[in-house]
Amino acid sequence: MATSAEYRLGDYAFPRGWFAVANGSEAGRKPTALRYFGQDLVMYRGESGRVVVLDAYCPHMGTHLASGPSTATSRSDTHMEGDNIRCPFHAWRFGPDGVCNHIPYHDGPIPPAARLKSWPVVEKYGIVFVWHDPEAQEPDYPVIEFAEWDDPQWVRWDGLQHLCDLNHPIEIFDNMSDVAHLGHLHGGDAVAYENEYTGHLMHQRQRSAVEPIPGVFDATYSTHAGYVGPGTAFGRFIELEAIQLICVTPIEDGTCRLWQVGAVKSRSEGGVVDDAARAMREQISAMFGNGLMTDAEVWKFKRPATQIMQLPGDGPFRQSRVWYSQFYNPRANADEIVARVAGVHYSKNWPPFTAEAAE
Ligand code: FES
Ligand SMILES: [Fe+2]
Repeated sequence: MATSAEYRLGDYAFPRGWFAVANGSEAGRKPTALRYFGQDLVMYRGESGRVVVLDAYCPHMGTHLASGPSTATSRSDTHMEGDNIRCPFHAWRFGPDGVCNHIPYHDGPIPPAARLKSWPVVEKYGIVFVWHDPEAQEPDYPVIEFAEWDDPQWVRWDGLQHLCDLNHPIEIFDNMSDVAHLGHLHGGDAVAYENEYTGHLMHQRQRSAVEPIPGVFDATYSTHAGYVGPGTAFGRFIELEAIQLICVTPIEDGTCRLWQVGAVKSRSEGGVVDDAARAMREQISAMFGNGLMTDAEVWKFKRPATQIMQLPGDGPFRQSRVWYSQFYNPRANADEIVARVAGVHYSKNWPPFTAEAAE
């Protein structure tokens, strides 16, 4: 394991960005303990339905808000009141903004320091995303977009599949630039390849030669993949009419959690989402997961690649890591960092991906 500092990523151990922390189905009226970004958090669903994520430890005496039971819980049988949460120890109550708004045994003003950090939360695609920011600012880009989610011919997923916990997230990110491993590890030789960096987005476009699947693709298939910020990645499998979401969330400095899930366009008559279409989604999502686990079996046992001996025939690891480092540095520096690598980059051994196959 190596830390962000050992990879020389920048000033911060944990990057700025949107990160998956749970499936929406895990957020309920019972508070749940989470641990990400080297911090303990508590997650719950308020009565209004909104998901709230707060720092875990009560400012009074340090109780973890997801712990219990206690006198507070035994009297009311819950920590929860509306969208508020009560500490299980002495029943201080915190709003979804993290501010203490009631202390049952205290008449005077509530101390201003009686507050917890409330994390920006977006629940989308059945997933709870939080915004992590070392500078504690508002989000500067939106959660990853999937237009397919609202297309009635696409079979939606029902939550992320947790694949495994791994070493530093940069090792997963490097996969986006790793054209040379595709044929050897995955069995699909690239025949065209390029990466592009722009703002908070990176794109990878490639075409691979594979065994034909009748009615799906001939001898090649194309993918348009990329990262949206440092925590979420997408893959669009053009001929297969399938998409993959990959989420990577730091746990400690040097470790991360890896999830994925896939969705497909229904092949049933009229694009109806029926049992056959749902079965195909399951099958393709499992295939995507297995593909990623092939990489994970390597990642689990490798030493940290704090330096890469990059050959001209490798993909643009170095440029990708520069792009990625924007999130580990003050956001005031992000434009200058991206400008160093903005544009399209290729690998010596593979021709560029031609534009007509990209969409
Ligand atoms: S420790 Fe939370 S109310 Fe006392
Ligand atoms: Fe891979």
